[in-house]
Amino acid sequence: MTVLVTGGAGYIGSHTVRLLRERDYPVVVLDNLESGNRAATGDVPLVVGDIGDEALLTRVFVEHNVNAVIHFAAYKAPGESMEQPERYFDNNVCSTNRLLRAMQRSNVKHFVFSSSCSVYGTPQQLPVSETNALHPESPYAESKLMVEQMLKWYDVCHQLRYVSLRYFNAAGAAPDGKIGEDWKVTLNLIPLVMKAALGKASVVKVFGTDYPTRDGTAVRDYIHVMDLADAHIRALEYLREHEQSQIFNLGTGQGSTVQEIVDSTRRISGVDLPVEYTGRRPGDPVAIYADNTKARELLGWQPQYSLEEIIQSAWQWHSTYPEGYGD
Ligand SMILES: NC(=O)c1ccc[n+]([C@@H]2O[C@H](COP(=O)([O-])OP(=O)(O)OC[C@H]3O[C@@H](n4cnc5c(N)ncnc54)[C@H](O)[C@@H]3O)[C@@H](O)[C@H]2O)c1
Repeated sequence: MTVLVTGGAGYIGSHTVRLLRERDYPVVVLDNLESGNRAATGDVPLVVGDIGDEALLTRVFVEHNVNAVIHFAAYKAPGESMEQPERYFDNNVCSTNRLLRAMQRSNVKHFVFSSSCSVYGTPQQLPVSETNALHPESPYAESKLMVEQMLKWYDVCHQLRYVSLRYFNAAGAAPDGKIGEDWKVTLNLIPLVMKAALGKASVVKVFGTDYPTRDGTAVRDYIHVMDLADAHIRALEYLREHEQSQIFNLGTGQGSTVQEIVDSTRRISGVDLPVEYTGRRPGDPVAIYADNTKARELLGWQPQYSLEEIIQSAWQWHSTYPEGYGD
């Protein structure tokens, strides 16, 4: 029985595909390669196509004997979603509904979903637990919440069991440095810091130095991509054992400041990368970090990688492949 990984040629998907193969799960990837890269999937079967193509999905389910889906494929930039909400609802929500309908018709009953801590918006309480109030602040975040709400009804009406994983900030690269996050498709802090360390950006901008944190810069929860990959496999196993839908936060529970990321990158790369300190960005919360107790207790999951190892692996990937996967 095979696991279908949508978006498996992208950043988090490709690391999860790798770990699934290491643990002997049969896998097939579906990706339209809009932002993903064929090279990231290694020798795993790759179907190039769209998650909204129900006929294709039905064929893939039968041909590969699929019994579970891990769903990464989506657009992921909150800022861009404020400019093009229709694209985000179309791809992240409408196409996901077509994927779920194809699953229901083909009797595929287990679904692991890439959700996001952005469903909480600016948190009123820290650490952020799964019971915190939900306040999406962008069409992107809303699209993740809408899929979670759809999933609740697929469960009730069609007994489709799901695990929704609300990631905090995914970061780092495979420990052997062979796959990682591609330059061209990220606005995330750690790759931007790497870019500056490699001389590919003139400066790293740090927004806000007067937050009430240990060094005045904002706090976020960075979770290693291999820890995320491990949680997806545990989620699949949980569904097989318990036949019960769940929602989990995936973060380390340890916030790191922007300045700590910069300092750690300077130490590991040996480059005194240039930083420009500037004012706070409107809407940026002071701090966000996870309460991951539920994932620890129900999935037996525990983050294995420290911030140092996140930066080390990211540096190894970016400094070895400064052009990412290239063209
Ligand atoms: N990176 C993060 O920090 C983060 C945080 C929270 C949630 N997420 C979510 O995790 C998932 C994976 O994120 P990522 O960082 O690996 O993104 P990514 O852009 O690297 O990967 C997404 C993949 O999906 C593919 N894709 C997009 N739309 C598709 C479609 N309609 N049909 C087929 N393939 C399609 C892209 O080609 C790409 O390979 C996304 O759903 C994202 O919203 C990411």
